Amino acid sequence: MAQTKVSIPVWSSQWVFIMAAVGSAVGLGNIWKFPYIAGDNGGGAFVLVYLACIVLIGLPILIAEISLGRAGKANPIQAMLNNALANKASKAWAGLGINGVVAGLLILSFYTVIAGLALAYFVKSLQGGFLAMDANEAQALFSSEVASPWVLGFWHSVFMLLTLLIVARGVRAGLEKAINLMMPGLLMILLILLGYATMTGSFGQSVSFMFRADFSQLTWNAVLVAMGHAFFTLSIGLGTMMAYGAYVGRNMSIVQASVWIVVMDTLIAIIAGLIIFSIVFANALEPGAGPGLLFQTLPIAFGQMAGGWFFGSLFFLLVVMAALSSAISLLEPAVSWLEQRGRYSRVQATVLLGALTWFIGLGTVLSFNYWENIYVFGERNIFATLDFLTSSLMLPLGGLLIAVFAAWTWQKSKRAEIVRFSNQFVERLFDISLRYITPFAVLGVFAFNLALGWM
Ligand code: PHE
Ligand code: NA
Repeated sequence: MAQTKVSIPVWSSQWVFIMAAVGSAVGLGNIWKFPYIAGDNGGGAFVLVYLACIVLIGLPILIAEISLGRAGKANPIQAMLNNALANKASKAWAGLGINGVVAGLLILSFYTVIAGLALAYFVKSLQGGFLAMDANEAQALFSSEVASPWVLGFWHSVFMLLTLLIVARGVRAGLEKAINLMMPGLLMILLILLGYATMTGSFGQSVSFMFRADFSQLTWNAVLVAMGHAFFTLSIGLGTMMAYGAYVGRNMSIVQASVWIVVMDTLIAIIAGLIIFSIVFANALEPGAGPGLLFQTLPIAFGQMAGGWFFGSLFFLLVVMAALSSAISLLEPAVSWLEQRGRYSRVQATVLLGALTWFIGLGTVLSFNYWENIYVFGERNIFATLDFLTSSLMLPLGGLLIAVFAAWTWQKSKRAEIVRFSNQFVERLFDISLRYITPFAVLGVFAFNLALGWM
């Protein structure tokens, strides 16, 4: 196995490993993206397709991806090269790592823009900006926040800097410290807001919107979006989990961690959806409002509830933290790759890649104002194109390749040393999913979308 030039750190405990991986998974995908794409795609049927993808495809790929990182003991590109060599497979498998490193930077480039907006809202809330706000005022606030590229760009820059400050410090002093500080509390606030949602009078409508399925309305494009989101929300298909897997120690359980990640991530997405749709219906808003949904609904709730100033500020702070613990994991594959090549220090690698990603992010900043209607691909502006390219294409493709390698190319005995299933039946299911269900599902969904002209 080719050695990397710098030594690879190890998580300080199984618990920290789980928290870091949950921190990566739980982010804007759950709180911002899931509610608005569910709203755009009509709710129920879309949500069920998404849940099916999480269980049938997501969990097995997650286990496989962390395990491949653990086996390759390096950044995703080097790890796949190591895995290929160890299993006498083609070196082209390193391409899987490259796809992931690039996808990570592209996602980060728009992730920091949205997270920056959440940061702006945190400050707004602290200043009492949501007080007694109604639906029209909330929409006006959102429009004015995104109207200026300078304002949006400023918050994008601040959030990017925060991300770089953590990543530059490395795994133990940076990632772990940040995770330990940020993760606790998120669930608590979500539960408080869930309590508020049950009292809006529209909770029932919100539940039925999210779970009553009308499959006749479901398009193949919606299926593609649901599948892509399953990858996005679990942070799989791009090497984040591979990079985190490389830091897994000898006695840590990958299967246990993966189950935690899936359960926490799914719960938080559903709770966030219920909260937001309760507010949407209580205020007669449109569930299909697009990327602004979170920012146009929650301020109404905070403006009206008792203690809204406090809960509103806390909530947006927690969105920021959830996003930050994901943003660092988007940068980690690329930074660990550049660092482990040996020419640059960790700090230099972080600054170089951060600057590049920041620059790409300006395209997304402009997609909310001056370039909103400048279409790059289909009727998609720069932001929508980046989102589509990564979530709907690069992540499913990466996941497919991970599944193929883990199921067909990886020698069984070598795999078993790392994955360690507690019983054979479960291992059999894992194998079936990776061998048949994942490739069939991903290629099938791609094919339908191509045939129907939505790609
Ligand atoms: N899973 C994160 C979220 O839901 C986003 C993410 C994707 C993070 C891929 C890392 C890698 O917000
Ligand atoms: Na997520």
